[in-house]
Amino acid sequence: MTPAELELRDYAVLGLVAEASHLALDYFGRSDSLNITMKGAQDWLTAADGAVESFLRERLERLFPSDAVIGEEGGGDAADAVWIIDPIDGTANFAHGDLNWCISIGLVLHGQPEIGVIAAPALGEVYRARRGSGASLNGRPIRVSGTSDIGRASLEFGWSKRRPLESYIDIVKRGFEAGAAVKRPGAGALGLCHVACGRTDAYAELHINSWDVAAGLVIAAEAGADVNDFFAGDAIKAGNPVLCCTPELTAELERITGIVSRRNSR
Ligand code: IPD
Ligand code: CA
Repeated sequence: MTPAELELRDYAVLGLVAEASHLALDYFGRSDSLNITMKGAQDWLTAADGAVESFLRERLERLFPSDAVIGEEGGGDAADAVWIIDPIDGTANFAHGDLNWCISIGLVLHGQPEIGVIAAPALGEVYRARRGSGASLNGRPIRVSGTSDIGRASLEFGWSKRRPLESYIDIVKRGFEAGAAVKRPGAGALGLCHVACGRTDAYAELHINSWDVAAGLVIAAEAGADVNDFFAGDAIKAGNPVLCCTPELTAELERITGIVSRRNSR
């Protein structure tokens, strides 16, 4: 893909996420419109998930017919150029009226995250990055915390029923024992953004899906975070573990989580 084609996609997706944010907020403000169902235990679905994904999928396919699209709700196939969408990340929060949810859109080229945009409409925040061009929050450059003392660290460890509870309890225990504070606010894509802007010092999860991290990994890496090689193997379809942290804490987080990271040169 040429730089001009990438530039076009970078701008187009910003407009799309703004429209998608209005759509999602409209559902969020009318709890009777949500038609909440469960895809599985603690796996929530609302009418907004389907509506936002259909909107984004239809627009992306029309604007960029040669690109593939994968979404959490509608699936799709991997390709050299693929948009990976989470229409609502933090759906359980969304269904409960909690503001901590977001829309995540990432463009992955040849297995490498290239463009990421994450909007948290109820919080008035838009995070974005393009590989090699830095990361921003509402237009202002962002950077990881630089925290080096684990005793002052704030860690977010994501949880789902896709891995045994014991393995989650183990990493939480090791995090607290190391002297850090551990939390689980429930929207993995935003968790990566919070590392990127220094609100937390690390995000880790023993299994997460590609739509949760495709945008957030490029945002975090561009803000200076160390991130693991998430897209190795069949991650686009099957997911992988994720680790993202301020570089000063990488060795400690590798020990706590058992996930190996790459070192960031930015
Ligand atoms: C989930 C959230 C959660 C993370 C899970 C995801 P959903 O996505 O991002 O924080 O821990 O792995 O599945 O279901 O809210 O779109
Ligand atoms: Ca999600």
